[in-house]
Amino acid sequence: MKTLAILIIFASLQYSIMIIKDKKPDLFEKTECNIWTDPYIQKQMLKEHLNFSSDAASRKKESIQKITDFILKNTCAGGNLLDLGCGPGLYTSIFHDKGYTVTGIDFNKASIEYAKQENQDINYILGDYIESYPEDKFDTAIMIYCDFGTFSDADRDKLLRDIFHSLSKGGKFIFDIFTEELTQSKQVPKDWDYAPTGGFWSENEYLLLVQTFHYPENKAFAEQYNLLSDDKVKHFVVWNRYYNEQEITEVLKTVGFGNVTIHKNITNTNNFTSGNEIFVVAEKD
Ligand SMILES: C[S@@+](CC[C@H](N)C(=O)[O-])C[C@H]1O[C@@H](n2cnc3c(N)ncnc32)[C@H](O)[C@@H]1O
Repeated sequence: MKTLAILIIFASLQYSIMIIKDKKPDLFEKTECNIWTDPYIQKQMLKEHLNFSSDAASRKKESIQKITDFILKNTCAGGNLLDLGCGPGLYTSIFHDKGYTVTGIDFNKASIEYAKQENQDINYILGDYIESYPEDKFDTAIMIYCDFGTFSDADRDKLLRDIFHSLSKGGKFIFDIFTEELTQSKQVPKDWDYAPTGGFWSENEYLLLVQTFHYPENKAFAEQYNLLSDDKVKHFVVWNRYYNEQEITEVLKTVGFGNVTIHKNITNTNNFTSGNEIFVVAEKD
């Protein structure tokens, strides 16, 4: 009996050891769980978007205003605008009020439901813009808060081709990316968080183990999360690809964009990301 009990304990320990991921993931490896679509975490993300004094999920209010002014300056008033990864519609609502015809797409259900309730005149789509890009013509496409660095180079190029084809002549794709300075701010290789009564990652007690891996030859970081809660382990990997000005210009020109301009110091200082993002305006001429 005693031997059986020891065997069971050993087997369960083995099991938990096996399901903790601590190896460097393959470049741009995808996990089954996603921080934006997980049923519980997506609602926490929505709360973070709506916290205007924090730079988590969305930037702080003053930065949003500065970015919106920058986009307004770089586009013709009105016109069809697509917001890729629109979240709860913090930007879409401003452009709608300025007279643009606006479409927003996001795969966070909680955010899209909130956005739809806030403004029914905006066309909101619940979906993955890489899997199913909206079929329409746009004068402007935007992707704000460094989402451009979160997918593989192959997905990036597929998405860029879709954006390029969806833009009218003279149309612009405006987005922001991390620069090589990201390597200076990502200096914590291992971290953890224990929440005895639940919190951001789970409504119940959890232990979160975080490991950061660098892929210098591919200019990418992976943040690998093991979330231990409710007798389960969920795995998430968040990718961040960074660029220098020449590389991003080449990537865009290869797809067909003509005029590419780089803009610095658009936002206020940031209390969540590195704060050295650059903004890119790519024009289809
Ligand atoms: C960092 S947040 C930025 C949200 C918004 N652009 C802002 O700045 O307020 C990234 C957003 O992109 C969405 N997202 C990420 N990948 C996506 C994909 N493949 N398809 C649709 N939405 C995506 C997430 O759900 C999230 O709302």
